[in-house]
Amino acid sequence: MAVGIFDSGLGGLTVLEAVRTRLPELPLVYYGDNAHAPYGVRDAQDVYELTSAAVHYLWDQGCDLVILACNTASAAALRRMQETGVPPGKRVLGVFVPLIEALTERQWGDNSPPREVAVNHVALFATPATVASRAFQRELAFRAIGVDVEAQACGGVVDAIEEGDMILAEALVRSHVDALRRKMPQPQAAVLGCTHYPLVQDVFADALGPDVQVFSQPALVAASLADYLERHPAMAGAGGASRFLTTGDARRVSDRATQFLRRRIAFEAAA
Ligand code: DGL
Repeated sequence: MAVGIFDSGLGGLTVLEAVRTRLPELPLVYYGDNAHAPYGVRDAQDVYELTSAAVHYLWDQGCDLVILACNTASAAALRRMQETGVPPGKRVLGVFVPLIEALTERQWGDNSPPREVAVNHVALFATPATVASRAFQRELAFRAIGVDVEAQACGGVVDAIEEGDMILAEALVRSHVDALRRKMPQPQAAVLGCTHYPLVQDVFADALGPDVQVFSQPALVAASLADYLERHPAMAGAGGASRFLTTGDARRVSDRATQFLRRRIAFEAAA
């Protein structure tokens, strides 16, 4: 029993690390669907089916609470899964809401009507599927008024990161920031709406310049999970060791993960 953390591939490790820092005693089961990554170029139905299968797998492994540490999965599947049936005693949460609550200066679960907020020009960097879903704009509209969002679909960045080609990833990030600036010359805030992007956060921050506040998810999601578990302690499970599971080639995925996190990570093949 542990909390499940799901991502299409390696990106969710950025969330896992933040959760580990915030809640060092909490056992975690990380599940990367590397065999089917990237999700960001798939259609919504495809992402929904893959995500739903992965979440059911983690529930079956004894993880009563599963975090979708993937914006693409959250955008395409979270609301639909929550509406169409989560089994009793199980829960699935996404990564959008903690980010939007931070952007709109709201406390967890503050469902008061949308109001004006400090930032009015927001750049969203995300996968093509997340941008196409408009899920970010929808969730934002429930909480804030008068915020202009310009979204940039960052094609290729996730593939480059999954392949470990950080030089290509950096070049692509810079060209996507340029493209965004042509549409919105002076964003006040930038949202890194993909869990892979914190791995190139410095490049985003450098390309955007010092006047743009960069919102990145891992620490926000970890804080929100800590808050949730304080209110629902039973959802943390009853102990057990942390594990790393993948649908891909376990040795290759372990090598990449070790390279990203700079500590030895050993993935097992998901049975
Ligand atoms: N890491 C995922 C996200 O947060 C998507 C990566 C992918 O395209 O698979 O959106």
